[in-house]
Amino acid sequence: MTHRFMGHNEQMTTPIPLLVFAGSTRAQSWNRQLAGAVADIAAAEGAQVTRLELADFDVPLYNADLEATGTPADVVRLKEIFHAHPAWLICSPEYNGSYTALLKNTIDWVSSPVKGDPLWASGSKPFAGKVVGLLSASPGALGGLRSLSHLTPLLMNLQCWVAPRQFALAKAHEAFDPDGQLSVEASRTQAHAVVEQVLWAARQFQR
Ligand SMILES: Cc1cc2nc3c(=O)[nH]c(=O)nc-3n(C[C@H](O)[C@H](O)[C@H](O)COP(=O)(O)O)c2cc1C
Repeated sequence: MTHRFMGHNEQMTTPIPLLVFAGSTRAQSWNRQLAGAVADIAAAEGAQVTRLELADFDVPLYNADLEATGTPADVVRLKEIFHAHPAWLICSPEYNGSYTALLKNTIDWVSSPVKGDPLWASGSKPFAGKVVGLLSASPGALGGLRSLSHLTPLLMNLQCWVAPRQFALAKAHEAFDPDGQLSVEASRTQAHAVVEQVLWAARQFQR
């Protein structure tokens, strides 16, 4: 029996396809800005980054009667994109102590089997085995932390591997420089730690 051991450099240079998106479509969204900042950090770490904007997808409010008439094409597109990326970073706003209806609606649609399509017969297929890093941003003092404590079990229920390191960016309205980067070093360090852990874990899965 032969074993193939991956050399250190080889492992370090295999780019991880990383999906980055925010749970807000607001033009001036802090979470979209945070997504941009962590996408830059991840690209600098050698990840192959895809920025996803949920505003680019025409996804109605989930309704099983509507679904029975056919899964919207953009939902299938989202399934394909989620499935194609072994690692994700999600920047989640906090609404009333939880994550947004936009995120819930997106996840509900993407986790629902497509009737008559054996490719998408398993609802958890786009989610299972993904390494997911969670961040949040809010103008408030807790940085949207509570949204992450709700998002974590939801994603784990869909068989995602949620990275234990998370980051909630407080006072988000004071946190970015004019280039959209995190202006405070402590924030950059914490965001970087989430990115690093996600890429590290995704590399272990790649072996
Ligand atoms: C309905 C609603 C509820 C909110 N509840 C919270 C909350 O519980 N905690 C918090 O930190 N911010 C809360 N906010 C403020 C959001 O953090 C703020 O609007 C933020 O900018 C949203 O994220 P975004 O900038 O990425 O769109 C709430 C906002 C709305 C519209």
